[in-house]
Amino acid sequence: MDCYHIEGGVPLCGEYRVKGAKNSVLPILAAAVACPGIHEINDCPLIDDVFVMEEILNSLGASTSFDRHCLTVDTGNIENTVVSSLMMSRMRSSVFLMGSLLARCGEATVHRPGGCRIGRRPIDIHIEGLRQMGFKVEFFDDEIRCSGRCRGGRVRLPYPSVGATENLMMAALSSQEETVIENCALEPEIADLQGFMRNCGFDVAGAGTGTITVRGPAGSITGGKGPARRDTMYFIVEDRIEAATYMAAVLATGGRAVFRNIRAGLMESVLQVFERMGAKIRTFADIIEIASPAELQSPGIVVTAPFPGFPTDCQPQLLTLCTAARGLSTIREEVFESRFTHKKELAKMGANIEICGKNAIIRGSTPLHGETVSAADLRGGAALVLAGLSAEGKTIIRDIHHIDRGYENFDKGLTQLGGVIERRKSD
Ligand code: UD1
Repeated sequence: MDCYHIEGGVPLCGEYRVKGAKNSVLPILAAAVACPGIHEINDCPLIDDVFVMEEILNSLGASTSFDRHCLTVDTGNIENTVVSSLMMSRMRSSVFLMGSLLARCGEATVHRPGGCRIGRRPIDIHIEGLRQMGFKVEFFDDEIRCSGRCRGGRVRLPYPSVGATENLMMAALSSQEETVIENCALEPEIADLQGFMRNCGFDVAGAGTGTITVRGPAGSITGGKGPARRDTMYFIVEDRIEAATYMAAVLATGGRAVFRNIRAGLMESVLQVFERMGAKIRTFADIIEIASPAELQSPGIVVTAPFPGFPTDCQPQLLTLCTAARGLSTIREEVFESRFTHKKELAKMGANIEICGKNAIIRGSTPLHGETVSAADLRGGAALVLAGLSAEGKTIIRDIHHIDRGYENFDKGLTQLGGVIERRKSD
């Protein structure tokens, strides 16, 4: 088990190129199963969740190889339609294999997925959606067996779940009829999945709006032959959450930096909050320049919401940032049940945060001091790194395997901006 050793108090300055999006590449890799062929996925982040997805694809019969940030996946042979409970427990995105295996093979056996412990995270919307589309879904203890084909027609999500939208888009490929999915999530990663599916030759439209229409390919499993073979090449959309995390690190340390490969349109709600805190922001094409004010101000009340609202995946980082901001800040978590996992660790470092139900009330600014703390989940872990970078003295962060799931070489990226952070083996 590795940990991070951080010497805080150095303003982060310089330039950083944002990587491909974790939340985009995972459903896209699953979708590659739905289309037999060789898929070259470019700008693929080198993160543990991708490596787990690679293992899952290999276990199904696909072969994969990396050349720097290009992951090539050959899904010509898919022999297995069972995703083991071990694989499923390692990552929530394994749930996408339900949709893509149904599209490709007409059957899928999965297990209850793992992932960050930030609330109950049921998959009832996925299951109910599949049933409404005509699939048979049965539970045997932890095992979920799905089979059949999509009958087309309309399905309406009770909540715009990102994962359920993506899973149902893939499952709908098993029908030659048109399927209309309503009340879809609007996240940019869904439009990216649509882009990949179109590259595969599938007829998908509407991503980015609440209504997505999918028409399965001619010769889909209804015809018994399975989808047609097609080789593709695709570039993953940039990671707006990674960008926001690094920007928050710059602001937490009083620095300034230029970010490349990130379009402001993907993260307007976050940039607006940073501006309310006093950040000076300039944007041009896919470049964002951010500079800290002399003193950060409270952003007032920030409420997390589905896109285009303030992303729940940036909430923990904002919590850290608010400890350095003058005044009273309130962050209301409306997407997940228990996502203030790092509050206790921040309090050890000197933060003044009170949790009242869905609200975190932060009294700032409080100077943080170095401590030994533990990451409990991906974004909460990143938020502790931000705290360590802004704190006075030395911070040690344990359990950084949570952070490795979603940030490629986080320590190296921060070092590139002048941060003093080192990865070491735990004692
Ligand atoms: C995706 C992102 C995750 C992000 C989240 C919200 C990926 C790989 N992960 O997760 O980083 O935090 O969107 O932006 O893209 N829910 C149900 N039943 C369901 C599905 C969801 O009750 O069947 C609830 C969840 O418990 C949660 C809310 O809906 O409270 C949002 O979940 P969802 O949008 O599905 O998030 P994920 O797809 O899991």
